[in-house]
Amino acid sequence: MYQIVGLFFVFLIGLQIEPQNAYYGNSYIRLEHKTKPLQYWLKVIPNFHELIYKGDVTIEIIVKESTNKIMLLCNYVEIDDVQLLDDKGTEVNKSINIIEHLGILNIYTAKNLTVERTYKIRVAFHNDLFFRKSGFFLSYYLENTGKKLAALTHMEPTRARFVFPCYDEPEFKAKFTISVARQSYEICHSNMPLAFTSKKE
Ligand SMILES: *[C@@H]1O[C@H](CO)[C@@H](O)[C@H](O)[C@H]1NC(C)=O
Ligand SMILES: *[C@@H]1O[C@H](CO)[C@@H](O)[C@H](O)[C@H]1NC(C)=O
Repeated sequence: MYQIVGLFFVFLIGLQIEPQNAYYGNSYIRLEHKTKPLQYWLKVIPNFHELIYKGDVTIEIIVKESTNKIMLLCNYVEIDDVQLLDDKGTEVNKSINIIEHLGILNIYTAKNLTVERTYKIRVAFHNDLFFRKSGFFLSYYLENTGKKLAALTHMEPTRARFVFPCYDEPEFKAKFTISVARQSYEICHSNMPLAFTSKKE
């Protein structure tokens, strides 16, 4: 049994651009401005036994210029499934192109997307949890009873793309709703207020 914790976040994604450095993501790759994100719904399910996390992100986007391509940034995250839906919820015919060494996930549509319409991109993904100091990572904290394992986030300046596919640049600000699945004995902290907690088998 685990609980879903929903947190409403309104914060910036993306941030300063650092010098070109593979470890920092490919900062020299710039996103196109033909589409932009309005809202993200991000679900994260960490697994402290297997040291992995599973995730699912839905990004509502608006099309600003006619295009058949949506480009997202994504480094070292395993993509399991990608869906594209129009504003009526109908699936849009598309193909996916992942350029791993550049950290790019491109979605190409058979027909151009319609200007001023909204679409939803839904990506299911997974990744390992490592001991490091950026992205979504493992760390320890001390309690009276000893060392405890924690998973923390550090997304700045270009580390959000190491956690989930996104428009990881400063211009693309959007609203976030984040859900974290946890066991009933685990705790979850955020810099934003808790919206709801629900139980799941
Ligand atoms: C479709 O999008 C491409 C850019 O990806 C653009 O060059 C082309 O003019 C667009 N076609 C139409 C019919 O708007
Ligand atoms: C999607 O596009 C491909 C190639 O453009 C085509 O072969 C296929 O029939 C299309 N599928 C649908 C459901 O329209």
